[in-house]
Amino acid sequence: MPERIGILTGGGDCPGLNAVIRAVARRSLDRGYGVVGVREGWRGLVEGLLEPLDYRTISGILPRGGTIIGTSRTNPYRNEGAVDRVLQTAEAERLDALVAVGGEDTLGVAARLHADHGFPVVGVPKTIDNDLSGTDYTFGFDTAVWIATEAIDRLHTTAESHNRVMVVEVMGRHTGWIAVMSGIAGGADVILIPEQPISVEEACAELAQRHGRGKDFSIVVVSEGYRLTYESGEQRGVAKEVEADQFGHVRLGGVGEALARDIEERTGYETRVTVLGHVQRGGSPTPRDRILATRFGLKAADLVHEGRFGRMAALQGDAIVDVALDEATSRLKTVPPHWYETAKAFFG
Ligand code: F6P
Repeated sequence: MPERIGILTGGGDCPGLNAVIRAVARRSLDRGYGVVGVREGWRGLVEGLLEPLDYRTISGILPRGGTIIGTSRTNPYRNEGAVDRVLQTAEAERLDALVAVGGEDTLGVAARLHADHGFPVVGVPKTIDNDLSGTDYTFGFDTAVWIATEAIDRLHTTAESHNRVMVVEVMGRHTGWIAVMSGIAGGADVILIPEQPISVEEACAELAQRHGRGKDFSIVVVSEGYRLTYESGEQRGVAKEVEADQFGHVRLGGVGEALARDIEERTGYETRVTVLGHVQRGGSPTPRDRILATRFGLKAADLVHEGRFGRMAALQGDAIVDVALDEATSRLKTVPPHWYETAKAFFG
């Protein structure tokens, strides 16, 4: 039975991380285990940055956004000697188990450490992008969709007042989950996502059709990972920084601006752009995310208690189950065609 359990949160922060920390710690402390927070994701294990978590430290954190133990995008597999230091820290700190809370990158490292070294780790799926396989939903996603939907609602009234096209750029990296769900909820007139890239010409035709029906304002939601696609066959991705991080990701952003220029030029409609950015990750989690994060945290604590390492808590239907970490991290969960079809029913 484990006596000392570590928790780390890695990758981009998202609402609900503190709810997971609270649930893992509460259940583990109640069982008499010691619990420590590993600071700043995998960096904390590389550099030995740990702090004890007790009932006091986890009190009052359920509604708080961000993570009380910090996060980073450190990849031990990209830094010379770092994997050895992770193993040494775990041993020196007498960690019997680790709960890693993260997306494909953080959990990819966890899966590899488990496969290569039998590292005693369980995973919890976190990301506003909702792109992790093995789970129907990740926590943080519902809050991001809520924030984006509220922004779309607000943009509607100003778009209508000025007869404008409003382009809203949302996050999601290489998947269009946030765009599709907030677009459906907010009544977007066109949605552009990486998985099924309709052309700029098609998008403009939808807007022209709508205006032809007497509506002289429109909302266009574009996912940051959408590649500008033209009928000629040309495709162009837009990124803020081309230099990749330690997990090989470039920093996306800017496609909204380019798309807005294209729409204005092609249709003649006055067009403005709003980039929602990190506001989608900030602040308090929705009740749904608090509950999902709490259930995931309890499940992770139970997996540790049962010694079932290399597993990840997951949501399937309404049930919290566990799946293999490598299954969850081996491929991205993209938006299936039927969801995009639902959104398309309201285009134009
Ligand atoms: O993975 C979450 C996410 O917010 C993506 O949607 C986005 O592309 C990326 O992180 C932004 O990363 P950073 O916070 O490093 O700018």
